[in-house]
Amino acid sequence: MNLTGRSLVTIDDLSNGEIAAVFALVDEMSYSIKEQLTVCRGKVMASLFFEPSTRTRLSFEAAMHRLGGSVISAVDTKATSLAKGESIADMARVVGSYADIIVIRHPWEGAARVVADYAGVPVINAGDGGHQHPTQTLLDLYTIKKERKVIKGLKIALWGDLKYGRTVHSLIFALAKLGANIIFCPTPGFEVPEHVIQKLIAEYGGELERLEASEQAGKEGGSPLDAIYITPGSPHQLAMMPNISIQVELKRGVDALYITRPQKERFATGEEGKGLKTRYPVVDKKLLKEKEFEKTLIMHPLPRVDELACELDTDPRSMYFKQAARGVPVRMALIALLLGAKEVTVPDKEGSSTGIDYPAYRQDLGLKCPNPRCVSVQESEIKYIKPSFKRVSTKPMTLRCTYCEHGFEPKYVASSHWHEGMLEYKKYHSAESHWARTIRPENLIVFNSAGEAEARGFKPSHYATVPHKKNDG
Ligand code: CP
Repeated sequence: MNLTGRSLVTIDDLSNGEIAAVFALVDEMSYSIKEQLTVCRGKVMASLFFEPSTRTRLSFEAAMHRLGGSVISAVDTKATSLAKGESIADMARVVGSYADIIVIRHPWEGAARVVADYAGVPVINAGDGGHQHPTQTLLDLYTIKKERKVIKGLKIALWGDLKYGRTVHSLIFALAKLGANIIFCPTPGFEVPEHVIQKLIAEYGGELERLEASEQAGKEGGSPLDAIYITPGSPHQLAMMPNISIQVELKRGVDALYITRPQKERFATGEEGKGLKTRYPVVDKKLLKEKEFEKTLIMHPLPRVDELACELDTDPRSMYFKQAARGVPVRMALIALLLGAKEVTVPDKEGSSTGIDYPAYRQDLGLKCPNPRCVSVQESEIKYIKPSFKRVSTKPMTLRCTYCEHGFEPKYVASSHWHEGMLEYKKYHSAESHWARTIRPENLIVFNSAGEAEARGFKPSHYATVPHKKNDG
């Protein structure tokens, strides 16, 4: 396999087969970590960290040094020309002319995609806001694989802040595509975002059983359990059971418990104040004392705050320092592959799919991503980044931002090719009507309000207000 020149922005950029092949190289590099000094000799890695980091930044830099390459870095936007108003796209073009590969961490969701679009060299997303952190996911998966030999069919519980935790978002998609069963245990108020759930269901074909977090809240020792996601890999005996008891599932034990800290730096106003400490259960020896957790891997991307008791550090089930240490060989393998310094063979049986190629939404009529943390919103004044969407569903009509991957359901649709070009046919319709599926993707225009449509000269059709179910095709 040749990954030369590719970027890793989301975990979907790697197929299952490619992940397996990367892990084969990680194995090789782990055993001879000090003998790789010629692999990337003469290559330069730009390390751009515009959010705090210990593990990701230092393990990437250590990885490049271990491969014999060199590192240039910037760690604070205030010390770069971004502070003078330079666009991320311009910065990417310039840094791409200095370095052979770029690693970027940025607080805005989708920023790594912009860098990958403009740099002209491979780009690795080292965390973009609350969106994704795909290299953390690689080392998480590698750890599970090393400890359990397989990932398919395992039961993995994700615990804590599942709303803002970017490591969790990448991990959810990776576990789903590798056939693991996922149990969500969010802190109440910090459930997995709906756009992540929708993507899981639509693209990974699994089933979701929900249990309201409030049903669990207040039960001593109870988990704030929200949902179980059952992947197609081993769903049947679970999915066919009506009224599956999720609590029972957790009580049967899990193969891994993946804990995250509250991502306070991303909290909206007021989110921290609502008794967070009492709602955020600490994982400690007492919680994991039952027999069914005897073999559970205790995982955490780190840094931890109060949610994971230090008394577990010497427990043989604890994996978090191993995870962090494995960041170096995992990142060495990835850098070497993206730079074309190494090649590996992809096992055919693992699968080569890297996600669905949805039709693009092409109209440039001022539609904005609804996510205020999206790079396309943050840099909207700068002409390089045009909002860009994919049409991921017509029932309900759903667009997904190309940068931050937030999905949304616009209220109205229209066609850019109205009948016979006559203005009286320039009509807009409810997105729930059959028109959402009738209009060709290349002609589709969407609006979030009637006001937006009318400001563009469209008038309401018979289908604008009430969905005409009878005629719905
Ligand atoms: N796990 C992780 O991303 O750690 P850092 O923020 O220290 O890089």
